[in-house]
Amino acid sequence: MAFHRFLGLLILMTPIMFVQVVARQFDVGGKDGWVLKPTEDYDHWAQRNRFQVNDTLHFKYNKGSDSVVVVKKEDFDSCNINNPIQKMDGGDSTFQLSNSGLFYFISGNLGNCKNGQKLIVLVMAARQPIPRAAPPPQKIPATSLTSLAPTPTDNSGSGRVGVSVGIVLMFTGFVGLV
Ligand SMILES: *[C@@H]1O[C@H](CO)[C@@H](O)[C@H](O)[C@H]1NC(C)=O
Repeated sequence: MAFHRFLGLLILMTPIMFVQVVARQFDVGGKDGWVLKPTEDYDHWAQRNRFQVNDTLHFKYNKGSDSVVVVKKEDFDSCNINNPIQKMDGGDSTFQLSNSGLFYFISGNLGNCKNGQKLIVLVMAARQPIPRAAPPPQKIPATSLTSLAPTPTDNSGSGRVGVSVGIVLMFTGFVGLV
């Protein structure tokens, strides 16, 4: 009996371990790759994906006529390709998202950049729970406060939260793979 419980727990924990260990590769622009007018614009693409530390971005583009330049925000805004953090021009490049925060990519083709071939990626810190909006404050009549159940003080609840966050992450992971 105890073994079955252990097995059940192990199966429940598996999604969490999976999420923690596997770094994923994202194909920028899906089938279109890194182009001037992708079917799905890069803002939309970046917002529906969840990027974590050590994930990689894969850029596919025409070598010679295009490239990927990693830049600072001000150079992103002005399409300045002369102050790159990193430049990739081999036609098939991967870039590792080595820390959390914002990464800015522009086309090394100035005309393309000015016409919107740009990408901003927000990388989440590892295993950070998805922030939830605070619930709106509720007015509770003082008299009903005594009837409210006391707040549980044991820690068993956090484990369940961890499991559901893991499953949600795994689910978004599968969606990202499609
Ligand atoms: C990212 O990869 C480096 C080197 O492989 C490793 O030391 C680090 O722990 C990883 N970070 C995360 C958050 O997985």
